Amino acid sequence: MIRLENIGVRFGSFEALKNINIHVKEGEFFTFLGPSGCGKTTTLRTITGFIQPSSGTVSVRGTDITNMPVEKRNIGMVFQSYALFPTMTVFENIAFGLKVQKMNKEDIRQKVLTMAEKVDLNEEQLKKKVSELSGGQQQRVAIARALVTSPEIICLDEPLSNLDAKLRIQLRNELKDLQRKFGITTVYVTHDQEEALTLSNRIAVFNKGVIEQIGRPDEIYNHSATEFVCNFIGDINRLEENFLKASGAGLCAGVDLQKHCYIRLERMHVNGEVGGDAFQIEATVKNMEYYGLYIKYTLEAGGQQLKVIEKNSGKPLYDAGEKVTVSFRQEDIMQYEG
Ligand SMILES: Nc1ncnc2c1ncn2[C@@H]1O[C@H](COP(=O)(O)OP(=O)(O)OP(=O)(O)O)[C@@H](O)[C@H]1O
Ligand SMILES: [Mg+2]
Repeated sequence: MIRLENIGVRFGSFEALKNINIHVKEGEFFTFLGPSGCGKTTTLRTITGFIQPSSGTVSVRGTDITNMPVEKRNIGMVFQSYALFPTMTVFENIAFGLKVQKMNKEDIRQKVLTMAEKVDLNEEQLKKKVSELSGGQQQRVAIARALVTSPEIICLDEPLSNLDAKLRIQLRNELKDLQRKFGITTVYVTHDQEEALTLSNRIAVFNKGVIEQIGRPDEIYNHSATEFVCNFIGDINRLEENFLKASGAGLCAGVDLQKHCYIRLERMHVNGEVGGDAFQIEATVKNMEYYGLYIKYTLEAGGQQLKVIEKNSGKPLYDAGEKVTVSFRQEDIMQYEG
């Protein structure tokens, strides 16, 4: 539905985006993920029309919109700061886009009320000034305002980033429900990998103005295309040459000691049942962090530190200094050219 082809963006001599190619499908929840300054907002603003690319084209349903003004694009937007009008009431904020379209008063009223109900804002709250609402409520106003004009596409730039952790999780679930309910094509920006993994149908991982990988959350996580993606998504262990040799993995034809080798924490098993094709190594428990749902241990093995995750099964915990056996499989090692 949305196609970015060979998009380049320059700010003076600085190349902020290089050859970006993305195809967002109809109804998809598509996320731009990456560290600060990698070009997520710039890419989003190229879609919404606030930035003119130096090269390449943006099209929606096959129509080239690269030079179309922002207001003609019919794309809903939610910004990091919400960009609400603080002195207007909630009602007036949500109604804003409809007023711009010069819709009649009664229709505006109906639309605002319907939308407010969908995002769980009551009539009492509609009368309040935006500045009198909590962060979570303001966020709903911003979403309602973006959706009320029935856009085909909604673009959200870190809409949850200034909320506390609990509210963020609650609202991201609500956001996903809303997106499903409306079936609206969604482009979402975040630097939070957990948010990206839990919300998205597909993710584009950005790094320094280029896309390193586009894929489903499980593809990005289990089959990271590059060393950058592998390090950026989730927690990971780098396996050094000594460790690989000591565990026997280094002797295996499928493991290239010239490459940088990594393994996800949950792919290493402590004192588990070991199948014939697994590597094993003795380790010493150094430290543990108790998360309730799981326990994260720091171990020492083969001359390096390792982190492992154990599901909390109610079994006694391992103590610092305790010797354990760690096992892992070759297929779980991700390898990248150094
Ligand atoms: N108007 C501008 N003029 C000059 N440089 C800019 C402009 N807008 C963005 N940049 C630069 O382009 C790069 C990408 O910026 P962008 O805002 O897209 O990053 P981001 O991925 O959204 O980061 P963050 O997570 O911090 O919001 C940055 O190095 C930024 O400094
Ligand atoms: Mg940004």
